[in-house]
Amino acid sequence: RRSYNITLLPGDGIGPEVVSVAKDVLSLAASHEGIEFKFREMPVGGSALDATGVPLPEATLTASKESDAVLLGAIGGYKWDANEKHLKPETGLLQLRAGLGVFANLRPATVLPQLVNSSTLKKEVAEGVDIMVVRELTGGIYFGKPRGFGTNDKGEDIGFNTEVYSSSEIDRIARLAFEVARKRHSRLCSVDKANVLEASMLWRKRVMAIATEFPDVELSHMYVDNAAMQLIRHPKQFDTIVTNNIFGDILSDEASMLTGSIGMLPSASVGESGPGLFEPIHGSAPDIAGQDKANPLATVLSAAMLLRYGLGEENAAKRIEDAVIETLNRGFRTGDLFSAGTTLVGCKRMGEEVLKCVDSRSPLA
Ligand code: NAD
Ligand code: IPM
Ligand code: MN
Repeated sequence: RRSYNITLLPGDGIGPEVVSVAKDVLSLAASHEGIEFKFREMPVGGSALDATGVPLPEATLTASKESDAVLLGAIGGYKWDANEKHLKPETGLLQLRAGLGVFANLRPATVLPQLVNSSTLKKEVAEGVDIMVVRELTGGIYFGKPRGFGTNDKGEDIGFNTEVYSSSEIDRIARLAFEVARKRHSRLCSVDKANVLEASMLWRKRVMAIATEFPDVELSHMYVDNAAMQLIRHPKQFDTIVTNNIFGDILSDEASMLTGSIGMLPSASVGESGPGLFEPIHGSAPDIAGQDKANPLATVLSAAMLLRYGLGEENAAKRIEDAVIETLNRGFRTGDLFSAGTTLVGCKRMGEEVLKCVDSRSPLA
């Protein structure tokens, strides 16, 4: 039996609801493949602030670093929105990403045939979309210095941030993105704002330089404003997208809506070495938290990515993905995906239905 240590970081809002479901699915799928998990739950975000006074306690980072993989729900909420920067739940998440060195965030947006009618786009536009957004995660404007508040020469208050990338930061994310594209359909679109921003001008130059190592991958470049439009106009033109931290944040939320709901989009964050961090792309959804309404599938699918990219356990990953598809085939939908002719279920019940499908293994698999 293979055994792994998993750190669970439920976080805030719907985080604990969706992580609880994903944990059960992960355990069951793993046991079918002869894998055993030891889970350790640690606080992060607002709940960590309330319990310990900081959004990323030392012990949480240490436990995360020492484990084989980390599964996170979501952080944030109204209660902490007015906190100073260093006491924000979001700061804890950024410290965690930086602390684990997970510079590459893979955010797949796949339109499943079962959900094509849940997309807000026309069927013929959404059908068959399969995009991988590779988002740089530990650099750019999220981390650039100088940053802060101050006063300008008119005596007005100002807030400022710095978009900055070094060549080595661009090279490593570009290489990883080319490798990801190579395993897909060998088309990589680099999204930037090189017509205006120096950081993007260097980005484009370095991506073009790295491209010489990958002559078999077709590289294109697009400005981010056009990319935002093209994603809605004709999303099927995209295979793999590589972009900076903030553009990747925004474009992946946009891409999620092609698939029917942000409640479906998982992610994997990986670095050069050490454990990966796996989390849905959505937030803590304070508007529906505590009501058993959240769609747990983004986190369940993040658990599948944990198995595939974090542990190399492809069979168990596939088992989870097949179970999700079978659950959708059986007609179960949380509120974000509900439509006439489907069965409306809550977060917990959705989890139970996925567990049944893990056990029975999809006849389609
Ligand atoms: P959000 O993603 O939490 O919610 C946006 C909308 O999508 C809401 O209407 C919400 O109900 C819905 N939604 C999100 N996930 C869902 C799910 N699984 N099932 C059904 N509906 C779902 O974004 P927001 O409202 O802008 O942010 C709320 C809080 O979450 C903020 O504090 C923000 O900083 C934080 N946040 C955290 C993360 C993270 O932990 N990685 C990501 C994004 C936002
Ligand atoms: C995400 C979130 C985070 C980000 C926030 C909460 C720091 O929006 O994971 O997409 O911007 O990266
Ligand atoms: Mn986001």
